[in-house]
Amino acid sequence: MLDILNLESLEPLARERLDPMLFDYIAGGAADEWTLAENRTAWSRFQILPRMLRGVASRTLETTILGTPVSFPVVVPPMAFHGLCHLEAEAATARATTAEGTIFCASTVSNCSLEAIAEASGVGPRWFQLYVYRDRGITRGLVERAAAAGYTALCLTVDTPLAGHRERDKRNTLRMPSHLELGNFPTSHADQNRVGSGHGSALAQYIAAEWDPALSWRDVEWLQSISPMPVVVKGVLSPDDAVLAIEHGAAGVIVSNHGGRQLDGVPAGATMLGPVVDAVSGRGEVLVDGGIRRGTDVFKALALGARGVLVGRPVLWGLTLDGAEGVRAVLAHLRAELDLAMALAGCAGVGDITRELILQSASSC
Ligand code: FNR
Ligand code: LAC
Repeated sequence: MLDILNLESLEPLARERLDPMLFDYIAGGAADEWTLAENRTAWSRFQILPRMLRGVASRTLETTILGTPVSFPVVVPPMAFHGLCHLEAEAATARATTAEGTIFCASTVSNCSLEAIAEASGVGPRWFQLYVYRDRGITRGLVERAAAAGYTALCLTVDTPLAGHRERDKRNTLRMPSHLELGNFPTSHADQNRVGSGHGSALAQYIAAEWDPALSWRDVEWLQSISPMPVVVKGVLSPDDAVLAIEHGAAGVIVSNHGGRQLDGVPAGATMLGPVVDAVSGRGEVLVDGGIRRGTDVFKALALGARGVLVGRPVLWGLTLDGAEGVRAVLAHLRAELDLAMALAGCAGVGDITRELILQSASSC
């Protein structure tokens, strides 16, 4: 069993296990990595104002996200290529997420097929994250397969018309290892990621060749017309975009800058969450991600009005270090930290975590 003191401590341990090119792909961000760092710093600008003597002997972290019951409000976000971390790839992550009672959102570019991930999830809830291909036949095929395999929401990522300027990946000439497939596609797709043009990141070249940079709000409606699943729009920062997403029929939005991997210099999800919650004004659910590493970060997100959060890289570090058990340990650790934060702040249930319990300060603490 992975013995976790805190989630940040996992990154250096995983680094020792991983090929430096693969570690850099996972850990890195775009350009100067300002946004990557800001994603952590932004949470520290908020302070929790706890309340006392509210009776916290019996607590529950259970809630629902888009109507799906979860044991605590932390979702595993879509992340490409879990096979870089562990041979069992997404199947291990899905098993672990089910065992911990929450939702796994499988990436379009997983190493396991979406059907294999569904099987590994078993009874557990699962979402499918969609990248829209220039070839709309491919896109439609993915949506139909996800619906048939029991995915309950479609998470449309809108912040990636092209890959961000990831200097680590360029420097390392990022290539996918030869033993890995792109589970949802024919081998020719995986080969593009293995070979590339000879210089730069093969993934960036694959994205430029395959994903549709012409995507617009009208396509959100198109997706809904072909999908029986509700659509959640992932990757908005502007409150106006969040409102547009809801107006175009999305059931929710994920306030996210893609873990600092896309446009450098943008604000953190933490910074934009409150304004987005106010703009959406209860017309859809709002989730947030980026730099959430502590139970207190989750607490702050809920206090600002998030229905739930997504926690990315620590899950991949847990997967690297101990497969499905490592992912379970990460989720269990975060649940325990949130539970303690709730007890100390006077909250017996997640519904008690309200905006009165949070202060925004001018400087980080
Ligand atoms: C991602 N992310 C991502 N997002 C998405 O919508 N589809 C994807 O395929 C991927 N792939 C991906 C790979 C890796 C290695 C990372 C680290 C991230 C972004 C992810 O869903 C999420 O927004 C961030 O990871 C959240 O930030 P933290 O928790 O990692 O700081
Ligand atoms: C990434 C893409 C695949 O962040 O979403 O690497």
